[in-house]
Amino acid sequence: MLTEIKAQELNPEQFIAERVDEIRQAVGSGTAINALSGGVDSSVVTMLGHRALGERLRTVFIQNGLMRAGEPERVAGLFKKLGVTVEIVDAREEFFVALKGVTDPEQKREAITQTFYRRVFGRIVKESGARCLLQGTILTDIDETVAGIKRQHNVFEQLGIDPQATFGYRIVEPVVRLRKDGVRKVGQALGLPQEIFERIPFPGPALAARVIGEVTPERIETVRQATTVVERILEGTGAFQYLAILHADRVTGMRDGKRDFGLQIEVRCWDSVDARTATPTRLPFEVLERLASEMLRDVPGVVSVTYAIAPKPPSTIEAV
Ligand code: XMP
Repeated sequence: MLTEIKAQELNPEQFIAERVDEIRQAVGSGTAINALSGGVDSSVVTMLGHRALGERLRTVFIQNGLMRAGEPERVAGLFKKLGVTVEIVDAREEFFVALKGVTDPEQKREAITQTFYRRVFGRIVKESGARCLLQGTILTDIDETVAGIKRQHNVFEQLGIDPQATFGYRIVEPVVRLRKDGVRKVGQALGLPQEIFERIPFPGPALAARVIGEVTPERIETVRQATTVVERILEGTGAFQYLAILHADRVTGMRDGKRDFGLQIEVRCWDSVDARTATPTRLPFEVLERLASEMLRDVPGVVSVTYAIAPKPPSTIEAV
């Protein structure tokens, strides 16, 4: 049973020292691999692993084709400044093949999990000879998976899956007793730049968690462009998280005086402390209007833009 370390009770320096020791003990004289996505959880784990292991930690960014615009290069550049080399591995093809024809949300997550951990990571870990994978699972991921709400792609042991037997490597989860607010405190203490430790959360299945229905390169490109618009406009709001969702169904619209059966984008913007519950941010109507006009201008094929007003629960933060 995992005991939570609440953000208010957290002593970041002590936490960092303990985790660094724990990682050193788990890895022994070997090497470890770490999957960095650029989010705060995996960024904190990268810095903890780097402190513990230095050059014995290999940090990989899996380009799964589902990331935000310019993300792999941005993340690699930021970590370079912190002394951490990030290797970008192009696995786009494999992910899109695995997602082809899949529409069920849980099957989508499963396809991503299997592609990520078994195929792509399994191969990298095998080639490298590392026995250990560091991972940024947090307590909220586990709660929701165990409760059967969503299968977070990074939760195994809690589901009774032995990663050693299933994927051939051991997983170490240094921030698993924290929630997002605690992880941010540790990130700050580790000297991560504010743009990382204050970054809004982003899900493991990436933009695939924001495409309802089939995930194709074209549909991901639509949601990627919509995400750029949402992040540009809502960046300064101080909201917990904001995102764009591409719906599966089309609606009738009109363009250049003609009927256009077009795409629907749903915008969500959340106030929350730890993602367990959330309420929609009361955005001024002028901001909503700007979202609509820039979305319609910048994202081809969109004819409808809506703003989600239901709280979590019963909604969830992501749509898939
Ligand atoms: P939900 O959608 O369950 O999201 O209300 C709660 C928080 O977790 C993030 N999220 C995920 N993070 N893997 C992750 O690492 C996932 O599969 C996943 N699904 C959701 C979400 O962005 C929100 O901050």
